[in-house]
Amino acid sequence: MTKGTILSGMRPTGRLHIGHLSVLENWVRLQEEYNCYYAIADWHALTTAYDETEHIKENIKEMLVDWLAAGLDPEKCTIFAQSQVPQHAELHLMFSMSTPLSWLERVPTYKDQVQQLGKMGKDINTYGFLGYPLLQAADILVYRADAVPVGEDQLPHLELTREVARRFNHLYKPVFPEPKALLSKVKLLPGVDGRKMSKSYLNIITLAADQEELKKQVNAMVTDPGRIRKTDPGNPDVCVVDKYQGIYASAEHEDIREQCRKGAIGCVQCKKKLYQLLEEQQSPLRQRRMEVLKRPGYLDEILHEGAIKARKAAQETMEEVRAAVGI
Ligand code: TRP
Ligand code: SF4
Repeated sequence: MTKGTILSGMRPTGRLHIGHLSVLENWVRLQEEYNCYYAIADWHALTTAYDETEHIKENIKEMLVDWLAAGLDPEKCTIFAQSQVPQHAELHLMFSMSTPLSWLERVPTYKDQVQQLGKMGKDINTYGFLGYPLLQAADILVYRADAVPVGEDQLPHLELTREVARRFNHLYKPVFPEPKALLSKVKLLPGVDGRKMSKSYLNIITLAADQEELKKQVNAMVTDPGRIRKTDPGNPDVCVVDKYQGIYASAEHEDIREQCRKGAIGCVQCKKKLYQLLEEQQSPLRQRRMEVLKRPGYLDEILHEGAIKARKAAQETMEEVRAAVGI
């Protein structure tokens, strides 16, 4: 039996945070069983950052290092930058001919994001941004992927992808499968200040952080503000550290909460425990990160080889697409 095909991608935002880890762990698992394509979606980054392109190249490399640190293996999966595979753009153009505008305008996050970013002074009332989900459909369908591991936020994009595939198959010839979503269970980790974890809030726990960085980030976690002395009874329900203990300290979690409520454990000690648990999780990632960084030219080589493999597969699809359309 031939292996199924998977595609997924991320926009290159530079170094990742531990909130991305559950998605990456899922990708790592899938590379054993499927023919996996993992795209660094640099064209997608341009849809909102077309006027600030100076860091894109370094962001691609930084994200790639984190992917490798998390365990993606270029011997087992195909890793590449989207912009190095022009077939994505060709298929996007082809789809743009037959996709009704209303399909794109009704993608739930679309109007919202135009407004949100508009308020921040960024004009994304562009052709490219409207086409964001269509480019994503092309990313997926150009490899005729059967499945796409994504978070819940991406489901509307995947639904559109299926509609686009269906319409193409109906208008011309059946070329595309209708890919299904593989929802990964995402552990929701708050940022150190209790808001959503996001680079722009400066509240992240960096993936594969070094020990000093990790200590600093754990120490910055907001605890029960009502606690002054370590013997004051605390309320773990309002504490960011407790949310993390809930995920990382599983067996001990209830016990820590109890001690907090009784004033039997201080926040410094509680954070130290959490730091140790995070350190255990992060140290193999950090190790791999260092090994990757030691090899000169390795990142370029991965992207180069990955793009060659991706172009070959994408080109085969495009030949069928051209034949089906008759051009
Ligand atoms: N839109 C996705 C995100 O913001 C990134 C992405 C681009 C993607 N192309 C894709 C995800 C194809 C899955 C499949 O996270
Ligand atoms: Fe939070 Fe732990 Fe301090 Fe309680 S003891 S407030 S759970 S850091």
